[in-house]
Amino acid sequence: MKSFASDNYSGIHPEILQAIIGANRDHQISYGDDDYTEKVNRNFQKIFGDVMVLYTFNGTGANVTCLKCCTLPFQSAVCSEHAHILVDECGAPTQSIGCTLLPIKTPDGKLTPEMVKPLLNRVGNVHNTQPKVISISQTTELGTVYSLSELTKLCAFAHENDLYVHMDGARISNAVASLGIGLKQATVDCGVDIMSFGGTKNGLMIGEAVLIFNDELKANAPYFHKQTAQLFSKNRFIAVQFEALLNNDLWLRMADHSNKMAKLLASEVVKIPEVKITQQVDANSLFVIVPEQVLVPLRALYPFYEWDAQTHEQRWMCSFDTTEDDVYEFVKSLKKLVSNKM
Ligand SMILES: Cc1ncc(COP(=O)(O)O)c(C=O)c1O
Repeated sequence: MKSFASDNYSGIHPEILQAIIGANRDHQISYGDDDYTEKVNRNFQKIFGDVMVLYTFNGTGANVTCLKCCTLPFQSAVCSEHAHILVDECGAPTQSIGCTLLPIKTPDGKLTPEMVKPLLNRVGNVHNTQPKVISISQTTELGTVYSLSELTKLCAFAHENDLYVHMDGARISNAVASLGIGLKQATVDCGVDIMSFGGTKNGLMIGEAVLIFNDELKANAPYFHKQTAQLFSKNRFIAVQFEALLNNDLWLRMADHSNKMAKLLASEVVKIPEVKITQQVDANSLFVIVPEQVLVPLRALYPFYEWDAQTHEQRWMCSFDTTEDDVYEFVKSLKKLVSNKM
């Protein structure tokens, strides 16, 4: 089966799988004190500077660990109405941390200082949860990417108001590939305090890395990491995947490829008048509205998800292993169905 459903429908990149096999020998100290983890931590430090790295099983776990580091139970995280932490984590952050999520309406998945400002009116009022962190996703859930200046402005605003910035970086590689700048420049240099560095959406079998830049958040982080059940005894097998991902910029090559496939898909789809692209195509996904009758037969050929049941907006997502042929075949089927059904 080939699909445009999610970038986690794909398998494992061969270089990543090889790295796991390569680490499968001898005994190593458990819980992240092994040679492999230390090596990749040093590589993260070469890229990002002074960073604490903690590995998690998945993106939800990374987000929960990050938010736990940033908030006390009476505090809140400001996020977009589309945020994965709000919509797609079964309430994990609020359930396991106790913090509240304060959603903001946003047409393109991005937050601005102007949107956040009204939520700060009741800071100091004992009857209200106290905003302590702005949580953003880069790439956003709508496939858009914050520009460097948008991100820098938002981080500056956060810090002026005693808020941390958490970046859900499940697709940070796609965002950085799209921006055409360095990882450090796109994150910590903009003012991000804590983030997840996505793995499974970009060729890993399992795992994400939590990167903590702000010293205030580092002291308690290892305890929160354990409390949120994200500390893996055999951590070397998560860490070696990141070693392979960082090696020779594999992360960038894969993300750049999936972004290019989404752009190719957009350039083909735009030629079909019955199909409307609803969001800017900044990274590896396309949001579209297509004639309703084609949905069932098209989905039977290539699975994909409906994003909005009311507007029938669909999400088509490309992966590191999406090929040009996949795109052309998909568009051919779409065109055929559209012309048959209209
Ligand atoms: C923006 C974003 N954040 C986090 C995640 C984490 O997902 P998981 O817990 O399934 O690894 C996802 C997965 O779809 C996502 O799209």
